[in-house]
Amino acid sequence: MAKSDSLLSVNDIHTYYGDSYVLQGLGLEVASGQIATLLGRNGMGKTTLIRSVAGLTPPRRGNIIFKGESLEGYAPYRITQLGIALVPQGRRIFSSLTVRENLLVPTSKLAGGKALGNSQRTRWNLTAVLEAFPQLAERVGQSGGDLSGGEQQMLAIGRALMANPDLILMDEPSEGLAPVLVSRIGEIMKSIREQGHSILLVEQNFGLAMDVADYVYVITSGRIVYQGTPNELEGEPEVLDRHLGI
Ligand SMILES: Nc1ncnc2c1ncn2[C@@H]1O[C@H](COP(=O)(O)OP(=O)(O)O)[C@@H](O)[C@H]1O
Ligand SMILES: [Mg+2]
Repeated sequence: MAKSDSLLSVNDIHTYYGDSYVLQGLGLEVASGQIATLLGRNGMGKTTLIRSVAGLTPPRRGNIIFKGESLEGYAPYRITQLGIALVPQGRRIFSSLTVRENLLVPTSKLAGGKALGNSQRTRWNLTAVLEAFPQLAERVGQSGGDLSGGEQQMLAIGRALMANPDLILMDEPSEGLAPVLVSRIGEIMKSIREQGHSILLVEQNFGLAMDVADYVYVITSGRIVYQGTPNELEGEPEVLDRHLGI
């Protein structure tokens, strides 16, 4: 991928939890309009990468460049305002809030209100999200906690879209979902890409990752051990076996 197409560029980052050294010089890129997928087994540092980009656990060394701007020292809310939205692992929707209230969280005053996004990123609002997710529209007044796992995942994705982000970080959106819902999440990701958003997807689900990805990275113990197109990765039985157990 040419550097000029790069929306997000993670360069040689080192991220810790206290003394625990997790990301040990990790680099990857997300191209504009593409889905980049980070595949890896449990405990390898996928969520830590997401937290590093979102400003929740900033790297101690290395840098992260988004739309040409370094994110160093930026608080999470500022990173959201720049155009990065997070669909966290385990969905993290507010179970006591209604579907509507959950969707409105990113546009609330606390989250920065109308300051979100740039001029061209105004496509998504409550009406558009409910049109895109008819299942949520039917349950707009119900509590988030009353939704099924699949519906909660759609709510988490819809909530991220409400911020009209350039880039969506998705942390294992397929976790705990039945296969039919996993395919549905895959279709949703492709349609989000069609609308011009880029996605950094972190997954353990090999089938989903290979289906949606334009470019794939494999992580082991906090380092990228392989990168290529899904087709190229298919032709690397040794990588699949050694790093993904496939
Ligand atoms: N809050 C934390 N404090 C200390 N260690 C953590 C914390 N969160 C994760 N880790 C450790 O960091 C490593 C990577 O975790 P994580 O990024 O969550 O992996 P993955 O998302 O790939 O399953 C694991 O060894 C995990 O135990
Ligand atoms: Mg994780």
